[in-house]
Amino acid sequence: MKIGVPREIKDQEFRIGLSPNSVRVLSDQGHQVSIETQAGVGSGFTDEDYQQAGAKIVTSAAEAWQQELVIKVKEPLKEEYKYLNDPKMLFTYLHLAADKDLTKALISSNITAIAYETVELPDGRLPLLTPMSIIAGRLSVQFGARYLEKQQGGRGVLLGGIPGVSAGRVVILGGGIVGTEAAKIAVGMGAKVQIFDINVDRLAYLETLFGSRVELLYSNASSIEKAVPQGDLLIGAVLVTGKRAPTLVSRELVSKMHPGSVIVDVAVDQGGCIETLRTTSHSSPTYVAEGVVHFGVPNMPGAVPWTATQALNNSTLPYVLKLANQGLEALEKDASLAKGVNVKDGVLVHPAVQEAFNDLT
Ligand SMILES: NC(=O)c1ccc[n+]([C@@H]2O[C@H](COP(=O)([O-])OP(=O)(O)OC[C@H]3O[C@@H](n4cnc5c(N)ncnc54)[C@H](O)[C@@H]3O)[C@@H](O)[C@H]2O)c1
Repeated sequence: MKIGVPREIKDQEFRIGLSPNSVRVLSDQGHQVSIETQAGVGSGFTDEDYQQAGAKIVTSAAEAWQQELVIKVKEPLKEEYKYLNDPKMLFTYLHLAADKDLTKALISSNITAIAYETVELPDGRLPLLTPMSIIAGRLSVQFGARYLEKQQGGRGVLLGGIPGVSAGRVVILGGGIVGTEAAKIAVGMGAKVQIFDINVDRLAYLETLFGSRVELLYSNASSIEKAVPQGDLLIGAVLVTGKRAPTLVSRELVSKMHPGSVIVDVAVDQGGCIETLRTTSHSSPTYVAEGVVHFGVPNMPGAVPWTATQALNNSTLPYVLKLANQGLEALEKDASLAKGVNVKDGVLVHPAVQEAFNDLT
C-alpha cells in the first residue's frame, strides 16, 4: 500500500500521523510510506529519522495526499479540501458533528473517511480517542491551574490551597476518560473535586478509584446548577459518541460563577457543553465571557506533541496495519474499524453523525 503523511497545518499542531517507529513496522511489511518534509519536526523527529525507518521524504503536501492511504492527526482544513479528490482512504480525527463544511466536502469527494474517534470496541470503548483523552484530561487541570493565576486573568486561586486557606473547587462534567484523568491530577494537587455523570455504573467505578476523595454526583440540571457557581475550575468532559455535546451549562449559570473562575471545555471538539464556550486555539487560547476565563482548544494534546504522537501511534498502528495490509476489506473484517467509517462513496454513514445533520444539502 502507498501511504502518505502530510504535515499538520492546524494552528500550533505539532503532532504527526506516523512516528518513525510506526513507519519502520509498515516498511518492514512492504508498504511505501511518503512523509512530507519536516512534518515530524514538531514532535522531535527529523526527516533523517524517517528515512532511516524506510520512508520516502516528499517535498509537498500534494505528494503526501496523492497516496492510497493518508494518515493524519487532525481533520482536513479548508486549505486541504482540494486534496479530497481521488479515491483514497483517510484515517484521522474528524469530529464531523461539529464541522458541517468538512462533512459536505467529504460527501462530495471519493474518499473513504475513517475517524479515529468513532472506532469502537464491542464493549463501547473508543480505543483511538482514549490516549488523547488521557492527555487532554491531564492537561485540562494543568491549563486550568495556570489560567486561575492572576497574571493570566484568573481569580488568583491556588487549586491545592494551603493549610489554613481553602483549596480550589474543580467541577468536572462527565466522568469518562477525560473526566477521570482530570480528577486524578486535581486530586493530586489537593483540590476539592466533584464529578458529574449520567452513567451510574461509571460513578460506581469511580468510587472504587477515588473513594471519598472525590464527590460523585448524578448529572442533572439541578445538581449542576448547585455546583457550578461554587467552582473555581469547571471542566467540560461529556461525550455522546459521534453526537454534538449536550449543553449542560447555560450563559446564565456561567454568569453566577466567581469573576476570574476558569472554564476548560475539553468537549469543544464535539461542539462544547457550555453555552458561552467557543473554539479557541493554542495561539489565542482564552477569552473572557460573563467575567469567566474560557479555554476551548480542540487539539489540546498538540501542546505536548512528543508524548502525544507516540501515544497516538501506540493505539493507531494496529488499525493502520489492517488498512495497509487488507485495504477496504479491513472494514468488512474488523467491526471496530468499520465503526470508524464516517463517509464512504459520497454517503454519510455513521448513524450518530447523521443525526447531527438532518439538513445537509
Ligand atoms: N479538546 C481536546 O483536545 C480533546 C482531546 C481528547 C478528547 N476530547 C473530547 O473530550 C470529550 C470527552 O471524551 P472522553 O474520552 O472522556 O469520552 P468518554 O466517553 O470516556 O466519557 C464521556 C462521559 O460523559 C458522560 N456523559 C454523557 N452525557 C452526560 C451528561 N449529560 N452529563 C454528564 N455526563 C455525561 C458519559 O456517561 C461518559 O462517562 C469528547 O468530546 C472528546 O472528543 C477533546
